[in-house]
Amino acid sequence: MCGIVGFAGSRSAAPLLLQGLYRLEYRGYDSAGMALLEQGSLRVIKTRGRIANLEEKLEAEGPFSACCGIGHTRWATHGEPSDINAHPHISDNGRVALVHNGIIENYLELREMLQKAGFTIRTQTDSEVVAHLFQMYYQGDAVAALGETVKRLRGSYALGVITADAPGQLVCTRRDNPLIIGLGQGETMIASDIPAILAVTREYIVLSDYQVAKITAGKIEIVDQWGAPVAPKIERVTWDISAAEKGGYEHFMMKEICEQPKAVQDTITPRLKNGLPQLAEEGLTDDMLRKARTIHITACGSALHAGLVGKQLLERLARVPVSAQVASEFRYGEPIIGPEDLCVVISQSGETADTLAALRLAKKKGAQTVAVVNVVSSSIAREADGVLYTWAGPEISVATTKAYSAQLAALYLMAIRTGLARGTLGEEEARQWCKQVGELPRLLEQMLECREQMQHLASLYANRQSMFFIGRGTDYSACQEASLKLKELSYIHSEAYAAGELKHGPISLIEPGTLVIALACDPTLTGKTLSNVKSVKARGASVILVTNDPALRENPEFCDHLVRAPICPPLLSPSLSILPMQLLGYYTAVMRGCDVDKPRNLAKSVTVE
Ligand code: F6R
Repeated sequence: MCGIVGFAGSRSAAPLLLQGLYRLEYRGYDSAGMALLEQGSLRVIKTRGRIANLEEKLEAEGPFSACCGIGHTRWATHGEPSDINAHPHISDNGRVALVHNGIIENYLELREMLQKAGFTIRTQTDSEVVAHLFQMYYQGDAVAALGETVKRLRGSYALGVITADAPGQLVCTRRDNPLIIGLGQGETMIASDIPAILAVTREYIVLSDYQVAKITAGKIEIVDQWGAPVAPKIERVTWDISAAEKGGYEHFMMKEICEQPKAVQDTITPRLKNGLPQLAEEGLTDDMLRKARTIHITACGSALHAGLVGKQLLERLARVPVSAQVASEFRYGEPIIGPEDLCVVISQSGETADTLAALRLAKKKGAQTVAVVNVVSSSIAREADGVLYTWAGPEISVATTKAYSAQLAALYLMAIRTGLARGTLGEEEARQWCKQVGELPRLLEQMLECREQMQHLASLYANRQSMFFIGRGTDYSACQEASLKLKELSYIHSEAYAAGELKHGPISLIEPGTLVIALACDPTLTGKTLSNVKSVKARGASVILVTNDPALRENPEFCDHLVRAPICPPLLSPSLSILPMQLLGYYTAVMRGCDVDKPRNLAKSVTVE
């Protein structure tokens, strides 16, 4: 949801900012822009569209010699994607340039106040008012001005500001949106995410909410909201930039699909000691898991789909009541949650606004909290009592694949540990479960062999208007994720139904030629799902059946196409059955000419409500 960058050093800023923006493009791609301090005055280059459009414009208007500047890639919230609404925004007197990620909720009242004070509003955005406010408070001290400015703001923000009065200096701050400061040799870079700073450094500081930083080449001063100096904690990026590059694949998504065996392996292996999951060091103590009256899982999108599998795992292995709810509903409902309960939030980015708010609500109500998060030191990771990191590495494709798989892996371990802690699993049984979980990376490699088959199936059905996914139990949870993958990537309308629900309404949508994809990887339920398959076939549907049931795998007469999945316990099967579904979404999107890594209207890391 918008990416911001800034650079202060002694070499040309524009190429570094541009490269940083390319690496943040997954956060939004409606417009892009840059502000540079050239010979004492601000130059702003911005345009509707993608970073490539900005690059063209920079080439046409350059060269630029500035060694300090800020940049932005936008996911439009307030105001259409247009040149004028693109960031950076300039203050009324033209001496302040600002980039913003987030939403200013009270921008209308601020706009009115500013207009009355004689400021001219030029854009439809919520962000522009911040530049004018900064101008209003600026009397030579940018840190003080930014501190005063944010006192007037309601909402969320990560802000980067440069002023014509202070060449070589930028100031920044944040609230509920990510911002890191990369520490290079005599140069400094700010960014919304790590990949953007890697051309300059691997060392960085995560700015905390309300802190304000003043940055010049190689010098950083950070103060808290009361103006007191803060000693920052320096962190180091442990992965290589190649992890955030395509590495020969046509799309990040295909690369990330293929990385799933490793993501699952890396998430499981370090946590297995003596064949059992050890999670206490990460804040998930047996005491916490044993005492939980209820476990509330909350997340958004695919992360919630992982949570739906997690619910079934925890209920079956640990016999604890579990609710799994969309974070945007949880936060505005009146969840029955208190000090006796455990709240588990799941998030790849660790910055999703609704999930963060749900976490804060659970904490406020006194619940213990655990986060399953991919991005190290993200807001959710820092605020939860315990953190289970998913070691999937950077995920760039907007549609998640490997992070979802790693979330499932982390939830398997959590469920087994909870079972042990609550005495519903004996040590030997728990060891057996861990052994099966440990098999998943190998089975995922095996599952990857269906690539050609899925490409072929996509070619047969890519022109359909609508598709349906059906399944029961964990297959139904996997269907929900499969359906989301297909629709978000290929823009084909699709629905996931619990197979048993078909006859209660949705079956009226089935007509000759409708594609139904049935997941049947739980042998105790495949017979039931098969009856549903037969009833849609009787109404002329084409059926793709994904199954690991030996009886069905050898007897494909019930369907038009059979996708064979390796045998594994039903509770673990979504890890395997989702892979051909990710491939189906991918190939269908490619065949329809869709932008696989950057689906329309979407962005990764949804830091707005
Ligand atoms: C879909 C997808 C989204 C995310 C959701 C939550 O492919 O990626 O549905 O799962 O926006 O994001 P995180 O996990 O970052 O909280």
